[in-house]
Amino acid sequence: MGFKKDFLWGGATAANQYEGGYDQDGKGLNAIDVLTNGAVDRPRLVTWKKEDGTTGNSPFVWGGDFNIPADATPAILSDYHYPSHHGTDFYHHYKEDIGLMAEMGFKVFRLSISWSRIFPNGDEEEPNETGLNFYKQIFEECHKYHIEPMVTLSHYDTPLALIKRYGGWSDRKLINLFEKYVVTVFKYYKGQVKYWTTFNEINAMTLAPYMGGGLTDPTPQNRAQGAHNQFVASSLAVKAAHRIDPEMKVGQMLAYSPIYPYTCDPADQVEIMKAQQETLFYSDVQVGGRYPEYRLKKYEREGIKLDDRPQDYELLAEYPADFLSFSCYSSSVLTTHANDDHAAGNLGVAGVTNPYLETNAWGWATDPDCLRLALNILWDRYHKPLWVVENGLGWADKLEDDHKIHDDYRIKYLRAAISSMSDAVEIDGVDLMGYTMWSAIDLVSNGTGEMKKRYGLVYVDCNDLGNGTMKRYKKDSFSWYQRVIASNGADLK
Ligand code: BG6
Repeated sequence: MGFKKDFLWGGATAANQYEGGYDQDGKGLNAIDVLTNGAVDRPRLVTWKKEDGTTGNSPFVWGGDFNIPADATPAILSDYHYPSHHGTDFYHHYKEDIGLMAEMGFKVFRLSISWSRIFPNGDEEEPNETGLNFYKQIFEECHKYHIEPMVTLSHYDTPLALIKRYGGWSDRKLINLFEKYVVTVFKYYKGQVKYWTTFNEINAMTLAPYMGGGLTDPTPQNRAQGAHNQFVASSLAVKAAHRIDPEMKVGQMLAYSPIYPYTCDPADQVEIMKAQQETLFYSDVQVGGRYPEYRLKKYEREGIKLDDRPQDYELLAEYPADFLSFSCYSSSVLTTHANDDHAAGNLGVAGVTNPYLETNAWGWATDPDCLRLALNILWDRYHKPLWVVENGLGWADKLEDDHKIHDDYRIKYLRAAISSMSDAVEIDGVDLMGYTMWSAIDLVSNGTGEMKKRYGLVYVDCNDLGNGTMKRYKKDSFSWYQRVIASNGADLK
């Protein structure tokens, strides 16, 4: 096996799916705090209220249309269940959880800071000290076990007050508010956190703009502006990090999965190229440092005009991301031909079923080669260090009477994924920094808001409605991953 000696093995989480304590110690609300639970066949809902007191909800699905009435603002309503309010209660279990990660031999723990825990409305003069202190204790706990924290600055949790006031990231005002937030945390955690990423799956601005940027009116113009504002904000974050602590590295985080043509018809290849451009546009700007021509042409064709400044482009070119991190769970298949075999797909990429692959109960295909392909495509295009920061299998795990969880299907998935990664490193020479599988511990599913769709190496006793003891139980994959890490990826048995 060719993984580097200091390869960063670990697991990933996100505040809005894991922390709970959604209103504790001064935390403000964020985009996800008004998003209900759903299921594979029932969308999550963003609940809202109008000034005259009328209430309602708007279905939210990755890749689907989304709108809330112009005179309504997102709000928490009674009679709905909001899974981010409890998550799996990392807020009160962080010592125990980090202890379990240490037992598995984690070198790194990917988590996100909730912006609204630091600046409850996103725009206060002074930060919330209790919020800052919460993450400080987490980082101290990590370092006790020599675990390096890797922090996402915004994992789908734009402060709700900024959504109400500005309509989310389509407003340029968010650039400086974000800059203030990141400068605050960079200074506060200097020496404690070396690895950062700015926006989780930044291309969510195309696929799920409410999730990615708190957009309540996601027109093509607003999505383009939202992406532009996040690019500029990301470059400002790189600039600030390098000034505050030259040891810090700030990466991009992209949702990436290979896309296959269903047939060898050239028209299908063009379809793949266009779909790839929709994703790679984000890394072309944030890693490559400039807008690609194909995107500028698209904006011209669609009459999209960015509210930009000449300095924006200087920043993008001067402060690109230090590394490219990405999530990759599977692959998708597209075709221009009539085909009724629609796949549920992942991350909202519509497509058809791949007859060569198995799927889980949510329709996500298990693709044993997706990481090698993804790593090669991204390495060839950018030659920047890569990091797989999300990859894993969602399953309705069963807690047996003896408190064991036999998740051999997850071990099988992770074994194939790691061996695919290993081929990219050993055979193809890709520069790979680390692997943080999703998820270190069970947490709420982003897409469906369920607890039932579990990804963790540790089971948490909590059901879809947040009921349960919150006790932690090691799954079979726990000791398997422990051996993988101890052997630096050589022992995959
Ligand atoms: C990624 C997100 O899209 O996929 C995570 O960054 C999410 O937040 C993960 O949980 C898995 O998706 P899901 O919908 O199965 O939870």
